[in-house]
Amino acid sequence: MKHISIAIDGPAGAGKSTLARQAAQRLGFLYVDTGAIYRTVALKALESSADPADPEQVVPLLDGLNVKMDHGPDGGQRMFLDGKDVSDAIRQHRVSGAASQVAAIPQVREFLLDFQRRQAREHDVLMDGRDIGTVVLPDADVKIFLTAAPEARAHRRARELELRGEKADYETILHDIIRRDEQDRNRPVAPLRQAEDAVLVDTTRLNLEESLEALLAAIKERTDR
Ligand code: CDP
Ligand code: CDP
Repeated sequence: MKHISIAIDGPAGAGKSTLARQAAQRLGFLYVDTGAIYRTVALKALESSADPADPEQVVPLLDGLNVKMDHGPDGGQRMFLDGKDVSDAIRQHRVSGAASQVAAIPQVREFLLDFQRRQAREHDVLMDGRDIGTVVLPDADVKIFLTAAPEARAHRRARELELRGEKADYETILHDIIRRDEQDRNRPVAPLRQAEDAVLVDTTRLNLEESLEALLAAIKERTDR
């Protein structure tokens, strides 16, 4: 039986992971957070004292890289690096910038492509990232481009980091989000962009509940779910 796949792309802090995970639970789909995979590679680089922006230092780490993904009963995705649960460690602010740097390296993207596609072959998936609708799953049944104004996204991220007990200066976060957007949009391989057949959902003025409703409505319109 062919599985259904839903691709959600968009910039940092748009609400992709929170909403995709909730929507996946409602639909009974597997939620795949591809950013977490890039973050885990970035953590490996940082832990190995490699410069995440330097392909010559990062590419050799892919050889024998031991990254695993697991899904709990709540639909949450956990990441393991060299057998250690790094699900919390990869959320640190320093890992975000490094993830965007390793993600610009073509060999890293190529290395992770098969892993991501296999998930969609084996399950009904709701997958979020930057290039899911354009590169990873160009034939996805539904494509959503989820976005919001940078200021709204920075406020959300600051609140989230504060709740996790990490120091969160709004201006720094806004600056870093804008820089990361630029890096993700302008890289030569698999840049962040809206697929031509993607539905645009702007969450700037929507709270979480309203955003989830907008997302589910867009999915319902294109599938029977
Ligand atoms: O959660 P947040 O939106 O801050 O970022 P993320 O989804 O965890 O992704 C971290 C970084 O990984 C992004 O800034 C992208 O550079 C990269 N990424 C990517 O290039 N392609 C994907 N499919 C997912 C993430
Ligand atoms: O995955 P992505 O970086 O796109 O965003 P996220 O990590 O799901 O969302 C960032 C934060 O914004 C989370 O704490 C969400 O709960 C919050 N959020 C919100 O307050 N209102 C929305 N409409 C969407 C997300």
